[in-house]
This record gives sequence, structure tokens and C-alpha cells, in this order.
Amino acid sequence: MAKAALTFVCQSCGTGFSKWAGRCENCGEWNTIVEEKPLSEGPSKKGLGAQRGQKVKLTDLATTEAAPARAVSGMAELDRVLGGGLVQGSALLVGGDPGIGKSTLLLQAAAAFARGGLKAVYISGEEATAQVRMRAHRLGLAEAPVKLGAETNLRDILTTLEAEKPDLVIIDSIQTMWLDSVDSAPGSVGQVRAAAHELVTFAKRRGIAVILVGHVTKEGQIAGPRVVEHMVDTVLYFEGERGHQFRILRAVKNRFGPAAEIGVFEMTGDGLAEVANPSALFLSDRDKPAPGAVVFAGIEGTRPVLVEFQALVAPTPHANPRRTVVGWDGGRLAMILAVLEARCGIPFAGLDVYLNVAGGMRVAEPAADLAVAAALLSAREDTPLPSETVVFGELSLSGSLRPVAQTENRLKEAQKLGFTTAMVAARSKTGSETGMVVTALDDLAALVGDVFGAG
Ligand code: TYD
Ligand code: MG
Repeated sequence: MAKAALTFVCQSCGTGFSKWAGRCENCGEWNTIVEEKPLSEGPSKKGLGAQRGQKVKLTDLATTEAAPARAVSGMAELDRVLGGGLVQGSALLVGGDPGIGKSTLLLQAAAAFARGGLKAVYISGEEATAQVRMRAHRLGLAEAPVKLGAETNLRDILTTLEAEKPDLVIIDSIQTMWLDSVDSAPGSVGQVRAAAHELVTFAKRRGIAVILVGHVTKEGQIAGPRVVEHMVDTVLYFEGERGHQFRILRAVKNRFGPAAEIGVFEMTGDGLAEVANPSALFLSDRDKPAPGAVVFAGIEGTRPVLVEFQALVAPTPHANPRRTVVGWDGGRLAMILAVLEARCGIPFAGLDVYLNVAGGMRVAEPAADLAVAAALLSAREDTPLPSETVVFGELSLSGSLRPVAQTENRLKEAQKLGFTTAMVAARSKTGSETGMVVTALDDLAALVGDVFGAG
């Protein structure tokens, strides 16, 4: 039999190698390459067709399938991010920085689901049951019918779950779980991958929901193998800025609902409180109009959210001026600065530029281009924008503006919060009855000329 060429496989990214190495060239992880024995037979010379397998049942696309059964927690922000509730037989991964509030969120979620009639089990690998119980007391959840366990040995956990037959299992965290059949230390890539695989398989086989908690590395990836993200049905990130009380639960992948949906929470003295109207929260500390501050009417998932962009432009003492961005893409800022310079003749050379999204929110929509450009101009010219104005529109490299989706929803949200005027790209479908005064701009030069009288 010919020797199989790629028998060493990275346990993190799955790349095959012909020889062992300490570090995977593809994903950069250390000590993740292990020898995998080729299947004893190998593919036969005659091809697989010659070996009789089981016949797979094929169906038509038209066959109707019942919608998956969902359990709702009653925490509206959580249920929406899940796509309308927790799907039975699904596996979820909730990632986030240490201390951001994952354990708090999931204990509250477990209690909410348990009160709704689900049999919930919470396994902590990081804290003793006494600690979890203390937190439950603090959260006012001491009476919730949640079963608690402190264990890291996955074999014991699975045996317990087989006997308990819960509807929902929370594993806090996947990095602390270990299998005695896997020959590497707890927390290592091999262990995390194997433990996640066992738990996901268990969820599918038993038709229960499993929620895995995962820590996130400095680079913002879930520590351990990326493959865990592929194994689960739903990946949620719990994020927020230290020093801010807002927490955002963001769906980055969801097989059972829209991705990019967000739920907003506020960390209080007694747990996470839901924030039903995030726009009001993100704009709460606005007083009089200030140069460089511009309100962007964005869409997060399925709902409109208003956030404030703040820009500061100041002469630099350095040869290379600073470009510092928080909450927005640095590359996109560079692009907008270049368009302002090339198409409108407004240079930013010799000026430091700082851009910040207020409230610790992160914006990824290109629809914020116009708001960013307006904030930069406003800061540079030291002229505030007319108050009660929201701004949105996508910028192209030519300096022209493109309309964006859901214009009417954005305008309605702005009006609800007391805004009266809007600056949008020309040809936006504004609808009629929003009651907002809308300025339609063809290109960036129109913004500069009409609004700032600069150029
Ligand atoms: P935790 O849920 O333990 O975070 P994680 O599991 O993501 O590591 O939350 C830890 C932080 O939350 C801690 O700094 C204290 C704070 N906190 C509150 O402010 N209020 C509360 O009611 C609780 C339980 C925690
Ligand atoms: Mg925790």
C-alpha cells in the first residue's frame, strides 16, 4: 500500500502536513500538530463505488419540515439574538473577555429558561458551587429550579447528564473541560476540540440545547481551536468596554436566525438588566451640540440603533500623525480621509485624528461613512452640525454617496428620539410620512459646501 502523504494534522485548523512541526504554518498555533493514523484500508483502487455502503435517504426540497421547536426565556434581548428562542438539539458558543459577564448572563438565562419549564443544568468548571450559589443569591435567583454542578471531567459530566436528562446544559467554560481519553493537558487545543465535539454530539443525539462558554483571546478570537466555531450552530459574542456598563450580545453566526443581531444589556449591582431602547442609552449623555459629534442612524441586526460618532482633529507634534479609532474600522477611516483630501481638497496631513463611537458600541456598517466624514469635517472646521440631526450614507471612492438599506426605519427611529432633520445620500427611499426634514446629498462636496461652507 502506498504511504499516505499527509498524516500529520493540525488539531486547530485541520491543515495536513507530511512531517511533524512544533508550530502550524497555517494558523500559527503551537503544539497542535499530531499524527493521525490513516484509515486502515485507505481508498480502494477500484474507487469507493465498488465497496457497498448504506443507501442514503434522499428527499425533495419541497418536503415541508416543521419549524424547529423553540423555548423562549422571557429575556427579550436574549430571545431575539437567538432568533426567536432556544432551539432544541442545538449547540451554542458564547464567547467574551474574562470578567465581561458571561457567567452572570448564562446563570440568569438558565434561571429564566428553568422558570419557563425547561430542565436546566449549569456546570461550572471554574467556580465552586458555593460561589455560583452566592452569585445566584445576589441576582435574586436563589429559588430558580436550576441544577448546579462543579466539575471538569467530561466523562463524569456526560454520565450525569445521561441520567438527569435535562433540556438545557450550560458548560462554563469549555476551556476547563477535559477528557481522560485525550492525551494532552486541560485547556490545550486537543482537549477543547475533543470536549466540544463530545458535547455537540451529545446535544444532537439527545435533542437538548447545549451552551458552551468560551474565553476570547486578546485578538478577539475564541481561545482554542477555531473549529469549535464550526462545530456549533450558533456563535454569540458578549462584548463591552471596561468602564462602561453596557454589554452587547452579538450573533456572529446563527443557523437558526439572523446573524449580526444584537441584544443590549446593562451591568447593574444586581445582574444584567435588559435595555429595550438602546438608542436612548447610547445618546443619553448628549447635551448641547459639540464640534465633531455626529449622530448616526444605524441598523444592528433587525433593528435601528442611533449612536454618536465623536471626532477630534488636532495639529500633531509628530512626523507621522496619529489615526486612532475606537468602535469603527481603521482602514475605513483612512479611506474617508483620503476621499476628503482627493475629492474635496481638504487635507488632514499634519493633523492627528481620533474617532470614537460613544458608549462602547462597535459599528461595522458602511452606511456610517457619511456620519464619519461629517464628524471629521465638523471637528476640523470646529463647527458643530445643526442639533437634532442624524446622518447616514455610504461613500464611494469617487466621493459620491450611495443610498443605504432601510432608510425609512432609520428615520422613524430618529424621529422617535426627538430628531427633526436628516442628512442622507440622494436617491434614498425616504418614504413620505416620517415627518423628518431630509437633506439629500449627491456627494461629499455637497456636504462640505452646503453644510460647512468650507472647501
Ligand atoms: P462574570 O459573569 O463572572 O464574568 P465572566 O464569566 O465573563 O468572566 O462577571 C464578572 C463581573 O461582573 C465582575 O467584575 C462583577 C460584575 N458583576 C456586577 O457588576 N453585578 C452583578 O450582579 C454580578 C453578578 C457581577
Ligand atoms: Mg465566568
